[in-house]
Amino acid sequence: MLKALEIKKDVYWIGAVDHQSRNFHGYSLSPRGTTYNNYVILDEKKTVFDTVKHADARVSLDRLASVVNPEDIDYLVINHVEADHAGALPMFIRACRPETVFCSPMGLKALEGHFRAWKDWPLKVVKSGDVISLGKRSVHFLETRMLHWPDSMFSYVPEDTLLFSNDAFGQNIASSERFTDEISGEVLLSAMSEYYHNIVLPYSPQVLKVLAQVEQMELDIDMIAPDHGLIFRGRQNAAFALETYRSFAEQKPRKRAVIVYDTMWHSTEAMALSIAEGLGEAGVPSRIMSLKENHHSAVMSEVARCGLVVVGSPTHNNGILPFVAGFLTYMKGLRPQNRLGGAFGSFGWSGECVKLISEQLAGMGFELPAEPVKAKFVPDAASLEQCFALGLTLGRALEAKCG
Ligand code: FEO
Repeated sequence: MLKALEIKKDVYWIGAVDHQSRNFHGYSLSPRGTTYNNYVILDEKKTVFDTVKHADARVSLDRLASVVNPEDIDYLVINHVEADHAGALPMFIRACRPETVFCSPMGLKALEGHFRAWKDWPLKVVKSGDVISLGKRSVHFLETRMLHWPDSMFSYVPEDTLLFSNDAFGQNIASSERFTDEISGEVLLSAMSEYYHNIVLPYSPQVLKVLAQVEQMELDIDMIAPDHGLIFRGRQNAAFALETYRSFAEQKPRKRAVIVYDTMWHSTEAMALSIAEGLGEAGVPSRIMSLKENHHSAVMSEVARCGLVVVGSPTHNNGILPFVAGFLTYMKGLRPQNRLGGAFGSFGWSGECVKLISEQLAGMGFELPAEPVKAKFVPDAASLEQCFALGLTLGRALEAKCG
């Protein structure tokens, strides 16, 4: 039998744990899966906050039924219309027959675009600053556009010092634990970083804006309940979530490098090793990641920790090897800022790949403090020396940037 979990008095988690999914928004969740969290408050107006993925509707409705008859639900609040949170909305509306379904102004547009039945639903639009009463409690809404879609919003319950943050502060973790203080800090930070840098990163300016608003409103928060992963309980853990997002969004340069590459016959790979040696000589730690062995989302999680990204590919059919081209496309969409870049690669006869990589990096806003290095067929000692020098130059430039 599935049960709800009380996270505060008369506030329950009724979500679904997805141990199986391994792909989310094009990035690899392996090995952790994810969760779709939603919640219910049992007050005079019994209110459900968000639903879950369509396939998990029954799981969440069963958890809900363990604490209240779903037909007694008065309100549904839809903080975000993406399918992992609103996919089960039609089933919830059928089961609960709510008096009102609250959504943001952009949420209304998104609901219209996702569900044919929207016209039959008792929708009510709420904006930033709007407040509804549940009886003993109130819900204050704050639109958080682009965190993660234009429709996203927070629901804050001051009487419980509780923030339902939807995608923000989420982590893709499938586990029996429900609170962040039940797992190691290292695993938590890694999961928060992976989630942020593969989903939220392009919207970092909006994240800083939302954090400033939360600060300005002087919200008293002692619990942040996101829609993915574990719940931050206690003021210290809630403050940790806010500060971690601030540091992710600020993207201050870090003295660390990742060398990401693919190789056909190990020539570009040999160049990567020499570049790492040069970086080491400059005092910059680095990690070498082959795109054959590492999913592009794992590389992106490493980019999160690095102020320098060095990209290598042999020239292939006058272009870039597909795994590297795919990674560059993925990284471009995520718009990392404030980083140095570099390019390298072997070639047989035409050799335009390093120029193409450099152009792409420059187009994404990377500073390129050194000329790219290319080596014909198998790199000889002189070519490897050039790679070492490239690493040294890039490392020194990074050192200067980090101050
Ligand atoms: Fe978890 Fe933007 O959906």
